[in-house]
Parts: sequence; structure tokens; C-alpha cells
Amino acid sequence: MWSHKVFFFSFLILVLGCLLYQYNDFELWTNEDSETCPETQHYDYIVVGAGSAGCIVASRLSQETNLTVLLIEAGEEFNWLSSVPLAAPLMQGTKLDWSYSTESQKFSSWGLKDNKQIWPRGKGVGGSGMLNYLVHSFGRPNDYANWPTGWNHKDLSPYFRRFESKISLSEGIPSEDELAKVFLAAGDEVSRNSGRADESRHHFRRASSTLLKGARRSSYHTYLRPVLSSLRLLTNTLVTQLILREDGNAVEGVAVRFENGTVARIEARKEIILCAGAVNTPHILMLSGIGPAEELEEHHIVLRKNITAVGKNLFDHLNVPIYVNLEKPVSLTLRKMQSVVQVLKYIVFGTGVLASNAIIGVGRVNDSGILLFGMGSADEKMLKDLANFQTKTFRALFPSYNNTGHEGFIYLASCLKTKSRGFVGLHSDDPLDAPKIDPAYLQDPDDVACTRTAIDLALDTLESSSFRKIGASVHLPDLEQCRHAMKSYRDPEYAKCVMKVGGIAGHHPGGTCRMGISDDENAVVDEHLRLKGVEGLRIVDASVLPSQISGMPNSVIVAMADRAVDLLLGYDSIKQSDLSVNEEISDECKN
Ligand SMILES: Cc1cc2nc3c(=O)[nH]c(=O)nc-3n(C[C@H](O)[C@H](O)[C@H](O)COP(=O)(O)OP(=O)(O)OC[C@H]3O[C@@H](n4cnc5c(N)ncnc54)[C@H](O)[C@@H]3O)c2cc1C
Ligand SMILES: *[C@@H]1O[C@H](CO)[C@@H](O)[C@H](O)[C@H]1NC(C)=O
Ligand SMILES: *[C@@H]1O[C@H](CO)[C@@H](O)[C@H](O)[C@H]1NC(C)=O
Ligand SMILES: *[C@@H]1O[C@H](CO)[C@@H](O)[C@H](O)[C@H]1NC(C)=O
Ligand SMILES: *[C@@H]1O[C@H](CO)[C@@H](O)[C@H](O)[C@H]1NC(C)=O
Ligand SMILES: *[C@@H]1O[C@H](CO)[C@@H](O)[C@H](O)[C@H]1NC(C)=O
Repeated sequence: MWSHKVFFFSFLILVLGCLLYQYNDFELWTNEDSETCPETQHYDYIVVGAGSAGCIVASRLSQETNLTVLLIEAGEEFNWLSSVPLAAPLMQGTKLDWSYSTESQKFSSWGLKDNKQIWPRGKGVGGSGMLNYLVHSFGRPNDYANWPTGWNHKDLSPYFRRFESKISLSEGIPSEDELAKVFLAAGDEVSRNSGRADESRHHFRRASSTLLKGARRSSYHTYLRPVLSSLRLLTNTLVTQLILREDGNAVEGVAVRFENGTVARIEARKEIILCAGAVNTPHILMLSGIGPAEELEEHHIVLRKNITAVGKNLFDHLNVPIYVNLEKPVSLTLRKMQSVVQVLKYIVFGTGVLASNAIIGVGRVNDSGILLFGMGSADEKMLKDLANFQTKTFRALFPSYNNTGHEGFIYLASCLKTKSRGFVGLHSDDPLDAPKIDPAYLQDPDDVACTRTAIDLALDTLESSSFRKIGASVHLPDLEQCRHAMKSYRDPEYAKCVMKVGGIAGHHPGGTCRMGISDDENAVVDEHLRLKGVEGLRIVDASVLPSQISGMPNSVIVAMADRAVDLLLGYDSIKQSDLSVNEEISDECKN
């Protein structure tokens, strides 16, 4: 039930969102230029999907060539809510979200309705970059160790640097924040006690987020919005299929479906770049007859290219929420967020608790990581449904469920480099039907062990003197399914049980059109991200990641898309000069 407090809070968000919206000069709701341009059926480049990757790809192509660029996006523009970091969850389940859910999970998700995880994916200009939680990371060099030539950490470093010089990064939480200080001090203590100085030492740092003065900065804000007048953006338009040449060895165009149900065919003179994300890119390929023969046959889709790896190799992180009670009032609570002082602080200075995403710090040892989310309490209705929790699971996990003033925070513990691999497949041949998603969370027993190490890491920090000083105590959920075990996270059986009952989707899917060297049987695209055996098609999004980033993937995906454009344009090395985002090119639509 929505309490009056939640209504009050929603109202405040509404007011401050409107103010922020004006203040940040969101000039582009409808793109006048593109509205007035006549429909053309031919473009040089067609970019499918205006997400984290698609925005930079379309932007650069439109700026660095004199060729016509069409960017097709299934959703519409995001609204002002998307700029308020902590309001991101409010967009889930709306028309700006694909609102996918997974198949019932065998090895996890036991405390969720039907054992299904909910998978939000941004549907609109900016993609998942408009509803994600903004945490920035490039993982660690080792993540790229087995990637093809040109894509290791050293090769990507110049793109990482360019990313950091373009997108604003900030720590989100003010440096005087007490919880942040305590976390870092605890980290130091844990590291000292472990006494390791090698690769397997502990790492703790404050979280860094893509925020500017308390407002979201996405790939859309940074790359696409300044150049919208130099390309054609078609919103509310679903790409339903790729159109292949007669012999099936080249792509000629795309079939689209407009909002009003009309269908059309649009052709590309040069290339099509698929940027529809880790779920939709393999879905579009399969709908076009490109994918595993059996899967297509089962759904009566004519096989054009038998590429068995399409949709396979799906990975994601699984986060185990560990609630920590605090005696000292240092966390972010709903009650504090509703304070007038905080609202004014946010509106006037873009600072205060509302200006942050409440993600305070991250820690890691080997392949196991923790993230500190500094919210002591949140609305039950919202949080419970966001993760598809059964009521009893939710209430067992979060003791603050009925108290907006409860002081505490949530650790998310996860295995950063999982071994389990699932797939994206089909439910039917109807492009409007959601694809089948099975991430196979925790299928590999090594992932259970790796997640346990993360839980232990969280407990280690709580045992430090700095956390003890603020009265931190871990909450031990009394879950029906786990009553056979001793109620202690140090008990392997209990820890394993809680992760299987309460673990929630990490929202970092990738790998479904994996990149590999040309004779790699299990790869879908080559080192240049070209679809193998089909000319004129590149894939540039989370689906090409060969393996997981041990952190958050968004910044890596944008940096990779930046390099992909260099490859496409035939640049030998990164152009160090700024991408001149020329506001003056408000020319005629070039098509
Ligand atoms: C709730 C949530 C929280 C997250 N938090 C973080 C975080 O804190 N840090 C981080 O680094 N990462 C985070 N991520 C992950 C990150 O946002 C994604 O990895 C990243 O945005 C993926 O980029 P992409 O370009 O591959 O796909 P997307 O950004 O999803 O873009 C795909 C685009 O293609 C469009 N599209 C799809 N199909 C079609 C079609 N058939 N026709 C036309 N258009 C189509 C979509 O509407 C969308 O706009 C989070 C994700 C979610 C959902
Ligand atoms: C685009 O065209 C203009 C004028 O014809 C030319 O000066 C410019 O160099 C071209 N730019 C590119 C990137 O081809
Ligand atoms: C990290 O890995 C090293 C080397 O395998 C191992 O010795 C160490 O115990 C691991 N650390 C933890 C906390 O599991
Ligand atoms: C449907 O929308 C498309 C694109 O906006 C437009 O070109 C077409 O005329 C519309 N068709 C009908 C029947 O309204
Ligand atoms: C598709 O490819 C797989 C693996 O290469 C092969 O086993 C299968 O027989 C092929 N199917 C068809 C119909 O070509
Ligand atoms: C919340 O629920 C618990 C029982 O689950 C109860 O003991 C407690 O008093 C309730 N707190 C509030 C503020 O309603």
C-alpha cells in the first residue's frame, strides 16, 4: 500500500524534477529538425537502438562522415524523472522499460514469485543508460586478458581516458559522509589484517558515478543530444527484422514497425550497426533467420545463417542483499530524503542526499565483490516489486520494511566473474513477443563459492573497529527455506541458502553475440565486430563482450563503442583531438 508519505515524496520528486529539468536545459523533447524532414527509405548508416552504445555510435558517424545516419529507437524520449539519480527505479515497469523477466530459475531465485527475476532494460532514447544506477567502472585489466587483439586493457585505455574526459564523473556522496569514511577505514583494516600485497589483496574504494551536479549523465546526454540535428532519429519504431540479400551473405536493410502498426523497409547503403543490447540484439538476429538452426526451426523461422552461438554465453551478476543495522544515524532514510532542507539543497545547489545515487563504496577480493548501498529504508511496495520478491522473503531480508526511519544500509555481495552461462532464445516468431531469457544464475557450483567469499568480505568489514563504533550489526534473515541451517552467514549452508533464496539480478547481462578471432567457432562477431559470414552488419553493444567485467559494464560498453567507430571509419589509432561536437551543424537533414 502506498502510504501518504510515499505520495508526498513522489510529489516532491515531481516538483524538483520539473525545476531540475529547466535548470539543466533539457532542450530536446522533440527534435524539430527531424520532424520536418521527409521520410527517406535509404540511409548510408542505420544504427539500431539508441542505448549506451548506439548513442555514441550514431553521434560519431554523423559528425565524422558526410554520410546520412538513421538512428532507430523502439521507445520514446525519457522524461525528467530520469535525471534524478534516486528516482531511477520509478521508471521500471513503465513504457520506458522493456520489463523482461527470466525463465523460472532452478539454482537461485527461490524467494521470488515463480522463481523469476525481473530484468528492466531501458526502452527509449538513451537506453538502459537512462535508468541504470550510474555506477562507473572499467573493471580491472585482467578482465580483458583473453579478449581478441585490439581489445585488451592496454588497447582500450585511451578510450577509457577519452570517456572520462567527456562524461562527468563524481563521487555522488559528499566526501565528509560518515558512512563512506567508516567503509574506507574498515577496508584498510581488513586489508591490513589479510597481510597480502599481491594480486589477491583487498581493494576498497569510494564509488564513482556518472553524475553532473546531481543529475544523470549518460551516453545520450554526452554524445547524442548535442548533435541531434545532424542525424535522423526515429523514435517509437521497432526494428522487427534484418533484411538479407537473396544469398543470405549480406544485410541490405531493416524491417520496421511504427507506433501506429504500419510496417516499412529501410535500406542502408553502407552498413547497419546493431546496438539493441544483450537481450534484443540476439532476438533481432534470430527473428531474421540468423542463429541456432534448431531454435529457429522450432519457431518456424526460415534459416538464413546457422550461427549456433547467437544468444548463448549469457552472463549476469547475481547480488545477494545483506542488510546491516546501524545504531548511529549515518545512513540515508526515506525520512531524511523527505526533509525540506534536502529538497532545497538539491534544487538550489544540486547537492545533498537527493543528488546522489546512495552508492557509497565498493570492495573486492579476487573475483568477489561488495557494494555499499547507503539506504536504510525504502518503500516496501516499490522495492519488493522491483525485484519480484515474495512478501515474506522481502520482509525477512529487510527489517526496515515497515519503518521509514530505520538506520542501516544494504551490502550487495556478488561473484564478479561467474562461470554459469545461460542463453537468450525465442518464445515465438512474433517480434512483439518477449524473448526467452535464462541466465542460469548459480548453476555452476564455483559461483556459489565465489559469492560466499563476497559475503565473507562483507562480514569482515563489519567486524572492523570502525563499523563497530557506529553500532553495525548484520541482520540475519529468518527464511523458511533456510531454517535447516545454523543462522549465521559464516555457516556455509546458511550463506548458500540465503544467496539462493534472496539473490537478485545484477542487470549486467552480456555475451550473447560474443566477439572472437575469426576461426573461433563460438564467436558471433570478429575482432572488428562484424557478423561472421554476413556483410554489412556490425554489432556494438553489451552482447559482444566475450566475458564479464568485474564491476559495472556501462562505461566499458561506451568506450568499446567508441573504438568500434574508429574501426569502422578505418582510423588506425585513436584521434587525440576532441571529437568536435559542432553545435553549428544544425543543417538540413543530410538525407
Ligand atoms: C536497473 C539497471 C541498473 C544498472 N546499473 C548500472 C550501473 O550502476 N553501472 C553500470 O555500469 N551499468 C549498470 N547497468 C547496466 C548498463 O546500463 C547496461 O549494461 C548498458 O546500458 C547496456 O548498453 P547497451 O548499449 O548494450 O544496451 P541499452 O543501453 O539497453 O540500449 C539498447 C537500446 O536499443 C533499443 N532497442 C532494442 N531493441 C530494439 C528494436 N527491436 N528496435 C529498435 N530499438 C531497439 C532499446 O530500446 C534501447 O534503447 C544497469 C542496468 C539496469 C537495467
Ligand atoms: C564533408 O564535406 C565538406 C564539404 O564538402 C568537406 O569540407 C569535409 O572535409 C567533409 N568531411 C568529411 C569528414 O568527409
Ligand atoms: C584469493 O586468491 C588467492 C590465490 O588463489 C588465495 O590464496 C586467497 O585465499 C584468496 N582470498 C580470499 C579472500 O579468498
Ligand atoms: C504510421 O506512421 C508512419 C510513421 O510515423 C507514417 O509514415 C504513416 O503514414 C502512418 N500510417 C498511418 C496509416 O497512419
Ligand atoms: C547448424 O550448425 C551446427 C553446428 O555447427 C550443426 O551441428 C547443425 O547440423 C547445423 N544445422 C543445420 C540445419 O545446418
Ligand atoms: C515492524 O514489524 C515488526 C514485526 O515484523 C514489528 O515488531 C515492529 O514493531 C514494526 N515496526 C513498525 C514501526 O511498525
